[in-house]
This record gives sequence, structure tokens and C-alpha cells, in this order.
Amino acid sequence: VVVAAAAAPPWVDELDRALFGAPWGPPGATERLWLIAPSAYARWSVVAAAGEAELLRVAVAPGERRRGLAAALLRAAERDLAAAGVTRLFLEVRAGNTAARRLYEHAGWQSCGRRPAYYADGEDAELYVRELGR
Ligand SMILES: CC(C)(COP(=O)(O)OP(=O)(O)OC[C@H]1O[C@@H](n2cnc3c(N)ncnc32)[C@H](O)[C@@H]1OP(=O)(O)O)[C@@H](O)C(=O)NCCC(=O)NCCS
Repeated sequence: VVVAAAAAPPWVDELDRALFGAPWGPPGATERLWLIAPSAYARWSVVAAAGEAELLRVAVAPGERRRGLAAALLRAAERDLAAAGVTRLFLEVRAGNTAARRLYEHAGWQSCGRRPAYYADGEDAELYVRELGR
């Protein structure tokens, strides 16, 4: 069951720390979360006035992967964001993150550019966009 949440519960911070080395930090005013407790979350930044949202991070606990949780989170967030008037979604991902790139391409996102050496370790970022309601 996917639920939208205003703030990150402790398990989200723990998963963040385990997978990315550090929790995301305090939520900004534009941040929104979708959760499948206690093992998966998607964190977005939403600028509803501009009709845009950016997927900041999606993560699934290692033992729960390939069961469709991330895809379900993306579908729920996209449905809710579309209902809130959002029409265009963005994300950036490490070029070598094959699992995430397959997930996004499977979900209808389109590659739209690259940022060379975007990450601190020199890896490129691949940019994706998804138009809603088309
Ligand atoms: C990327 C991630 C979120 C995918 O979560 P998931 O719940 O396993 O993904 P799903 O089960 O919903 O997969 C949906 C589709 O994505 C693709 N996919 C997902 N993981 C994949 C993998 N390891 N290899 C290839 N394709 C993959 C497949 O097309 C899959 O559909 P299928 O299982 O019917 O073939 C998960 O691997 C993860 O948490 N990784 C670490 C964090 C991360 O890198 N996040 C993204 C950047 S912020």
C-alpha cells in the first residue's frame, strides 16, 4: 500500500543512511514523500505552480527488490502529482545505475541529456523527463 507522507519516519532515514551513506536531511517546503512501509520510499521536490516535479530519490530495501515496489511508488506519485496539476517530471541518475535507468525507462521516462562528471566521484548524470497526461 502506497501512502503519501509529510515527514520521513525513522525507517526512511535508516534506509537512506544504509544505501546512500547519509540521510537526505530535513525536508524542504517543496518536498513530498511516498512510502511503502517499511521498505520503500520515493522522495520528490514539487513546484506545483510551475507544473513541475523532480524525483530526488527512490529506494527499496535490498531484500525487497524486483517485486514491483519502486514501480508502484512511481505510479502512485505520478497519479497524485497529475491530480495536483503537475504536467512535467524530471530526474537525474548516475549513468551507471542500470537498475534505476531500467526502472525509469520501463515507467515511460525519456532520456533528455547528460551532465558530465556531475557527481563528486566523476560519474556522469543522465537526465530524464516524463510528460504527464499525454
Ligand atoms: C532502483 C531501485 C529503486 C529499483 O527498485 P525495485 O523495487 O527493485 O524495482 P521494481 O521491482 O519496481 O522494478 C521495475 C522494473 O525496473 C527494472 N529493474 C529494476 N531493478 C532492476 C535491475 N537490478 N536490473 C535490471 N532492471 C531492473 C525492471 O525493468 C523492472 O521490471 P521487471 O522486474 O518486471 O523486469 C532499487 O534497485 C534500489 O533501491 N536501488 C538502490 C537505490 C538507487 O539506486 N536508487 C535510484 C537512484 S536515487
